[in-house]
Amino acid sequence: MIEIILVFAALVVAAWWIRRRIRMLRVRRAEAFRQKALNPPRRARKATVWVLHRVFAHRFLWRPLVGSVRMTDPAPVARRGLVRTVRIRIDRHLLIAGLTGSGKSSTARVLAAHVLAAGGQLELWDLKPGGPEAAVWGGSARCETSPAGIVARIRDLLADPARDGSHLVIVIDETSSLVRQLTAKQFDELCSLVDIARIYNIHCWFGCQHPSRENLPSAIQANVGAVISHRVRSKVESGVVFNDPAWAPHELRGPGAVLVQEGDSEPVRLRALWLSPERFKALPGGPQIPSSTPVTDPVPLIKVPPPVEAAPVELTDNQELVCLALELADRPLPAKAVTEATGLPQNRVSDALRSLVARSVVTKDPDAYPNLYELAPANKELDR
Ligand SMILES: Nc1ncnc2c1ncn2[C@@H]1O[C@H](COP(=O)(O)OP(=O)(O)OP(=O)(O)O)[C@@H](O)[C@H]1O
Ligand SMILES: [Mg+2]
Repeated sequence: MIEIILVFAALVVAAWWIRRRIRMLRVRRAEAFRQKALNPPRRARKATVWVLHRVFAHRFLWRPLVGSVRMTDPAPVARRGLVRTVRIRIDRHLLIAGLTGSGKSSTARVLAAHVLAAGGQLELWDLKPGGPEAAVWGGSARCETSPAGIVARIRDLLADPARDGSHLVIVIDETSSLVRQLTAKQFDELCSLVDIARIYNIHCWFGCQHPSRENLPSAIQANVGAVISHRVRSKVESGVVFNDPAWAPHELRGPGAVLVQEGDSEPVRLRALWLSPERFKALPGGPQIPSSTPVTDPVPLIKVPPPVEAAPVELTDNQELVCLALELADRPLPAKAVTEATGLPQNRVSDALRSLVARSVVTKDPDAYPNLYELAPANKELDR
């Protein structure tokens, strides 16, 4: 009898112990899942992506286009995963944004290769000192490397936008340099060209390293048909490029990572196709228009002559308010602070600042981010 009781007790203890173990295992598994969800194995994922991109590097190389190619055909620009190719229409104005070294130039070359294959004309406006991109594009594109050359070219195109009716793509390597160096009148001429361009088969691709409302004015952005963005520096710059928090190019990592927005496309991380400068130079060149300035020319800056001290400067009401705010602050201010100080709408303040900078009433520190504005020394005691 005692043996039966002992066996029964042992069975009860064993059942209790097994139930407890099972419950513990369940709790541990749930905790492991929770931990995994909270801390995704980022390093492992990054390493896998890195290995995949090295092993399958050839999948991300640009391939020469075969068969007849037309400007209206979507051009391959990136890969989604290893297999799917993403294409975009390039017979429109494009914005190609991204930090230095993020892959803007490679993307522009990939798209330009399509233009060459389609028999279109290419033109490069490169204001970087020494025109480094012009050295790569010189064989297949007309290159303008000085503000004076660009201004003359804008006027030529405005005078005869139809030309021979062929497709002309103008690649502006750094839009902010161009916007900064044009006077208000010259900038208006550029905007007029951008406005009418598409009717005459002229397409502008705007490269931009640090997009901001100042160096990518709404007059340009409103005409852009598709946006290609490599990594940008901050969330603010992402907002300028896409104006939609779902699109976050500041979270991209590594050269070649890219987001492409065309129509109602989704914000999917893509890998841009890579076309090296050497392979681009070796492509059969397209029809060429001679440059108005040799590409090796040193780049002269258009400097608006400093205002003559004695001459009174005619200012609009908004410009006067902006000057007053800068004078009262007595230190360089970003555009946002000027907007707050004047109480004017942001676009009015941007217009006023741009025009004041062009007339050398106000100086702009382009190296500061955001740009800082200050009354020019000669105008500290402005006779308004
Ligand atoms: N699609 C790509 N895939 C892999 N690597 C790339 C890709 N694009 C660019 N890179 C790498 O990044 C480097 C810089 O690229 P690129 O010159 O196109 O950048 P960028 O944005 O034009 O820079 P910058 O503003 O200085 O001209 C290249 O030399 C290359 O090593
Ligand atoms: Mg570049």
